[in-house]
Amino acid sequence: MTNQVFSCPVCKEFLTIAGNSLKCKNNHSFDISKRGYVNLLLSKHNTNHGDDKNMVLSRRDFLNLGYYSKLANVVSGKVEQYAFSNCCILDLGCGEGYYTSHIKENLDKKCINGTVLGIDISKTALDYACRRNPGINYAVASAFDLPIPTDSVDIVVNIFAPHDIGEIGRVLKNNGILIMVLPQKKHLWELKEIVYDKPYENESPVPDFGNYSLSEDEELTYKINLSSNDEIANLFAMTPYVYNTSIEDKEKLNSINELTVTADFRIAVFKNKK
Ligand SMILES: C[S@@+](CC[C@H](N)C(=O)[O-])C[C@H]1O[C@@H](n2cnc3c(N)ncnc32)[C@H](O)[C@@H]1O
Ligand SMILES: [Zn+2]
Repeated sequence: MTNQVFSCPVCKEFLTIAGNSLKCKNNHSFDISKRGYVNLLLSKHNTNHGDDKNMVLSRRDFLNLGYYSKLANVVSGKVEQYAFSNCCILDLGCGEGYYTSHIKENLDKKCINGTVLGIDISKTALDYACRRNPGINYAVASAFDLPIPTDSVDIVVNIFAPHDIGEIGRVLKNNGILIMVLPQKKHLWELKEIVYDKPYENESPVPDFGNYSLSEDEELTYKINLSSNDEIANLFAMTPYVYNTSIEDKEKLNSINELTVTADFRIAVFKNKK
């Protein structure tokens, strides 16, 4: 854990390491878990606890197969392009840390000394994220109320995760970079064709973020060959579709053991102008 990268969720003062806790100058104290993350979520204000264990493990098992490694390489490459010595990088809605650890390992390999933070509202996700790479500063918190000091982050990465553009703007420095990954129209189309009678394409507008200028906008589209029912089930279980699909529709996947599916990503890079 790095000193003063997080701020107190109660009084907003810097948090400093004190033994196995983080403490602010007003003595609000937050334990660092055995795995190494800190819980900065004031839970009485928040009832959304993000992805559950089943979703976290489905995502971990799927991502570990390497089908999204092309995306991880593009994201790490973009971070490297904008990173510099002693910069601060935040992965917002980092999940179980697949991309976060890829980013950190790439910076280490290129000898760029950056501080990497990961925020997610799911404790379970961070429990697994810490196992991937203990050199990352992980905190349980809401994307809508970040326990991060104003003007302290150089690069925010946001991959398929909830975000509040005002909060991102607050924590980003002037000229800071936001790298956002969004699903494109045809993302997972063949999976949706099996499950839904009338599948819809994703909407894929370029977000308009007021003060931000769009400096890069790339597409990454390729086919993935899934070769077992477990792989197909894990991919489905890590998507938001898992929340709003009927049991009957989900069961349509039970008899499928092979599937070629489209991965269709958009990687947009914005510069923050304060
Ligand atoms: C689709 S997953 C993406 C995870 C990761 N970025 C990845 O691509 O592997 C969305 C993540 O956002 C988290 N999440 C949901 N609501 C959140 C919130 N209000 N604040 C922070 N994280 C949130 C979930 O727990 C989940 O880990
Ligand atoms: Zn405090």
